[in-house]
Amino acid sequence: MAIERTLSIIKPDATEKNNVGGILQVIEKSGLRIVAMRRMHLTTAQAGGFYEVHKERPFFGELVEFMTRNPVVVSVLEGEDAVAKYREVMGATDPSKAADGTIRKLFAKDIGENSVHGSDSLENAKREIGFFFAEADLL
Ligand code: CMP
Repeated sequence: MAIERTLSIIKPDATEKNNVGGILQVIEKSGLRIVAMRRMHLTTAQAGGFYEVHKERPFFGELVEFMTRNPVVVSVLEGEDAVAKYREVMGATDPSKAADGTIRKLFAKDIGENSVHGSDSLENAKREIGFFFAEADLL
């Protein structure tokens, strides 16, 4: 077990529904610590760059359109095994398959509008954190 950092994005469906506070409460109750946070409206270039790995997927256009529809809240979470831990706290990508008590079960509508993103590996977490934050932002 090691102290890790992971990137979280609270997506436009959640900011639209005023679910930011509810989601942050689930995150903090899980023991993960928010060490940086910013509300921002992603540009098409930012959303496309962030999700570059998915650019050949059929849902890429829909994903970029959705992620730029309204503001998001990006944050860096820190804790023991933060990458795996946050994926557990978020629940399955498809909310209909997410376990009770997870963010996606509590707040999300479907696989496209699934309320939150979390890094899927430590390597990707480093890249994703660097996409939005400088080392000096992590307090
Ligand atoms: P996220 O964890 O942010 O990483 C990629 C995102 O693509 C994913 O969450 C979903 O929101 C989205 N996604 C994955 N599969 C589909 C799909 N079949 N249709 C639409 N969006 C999808």
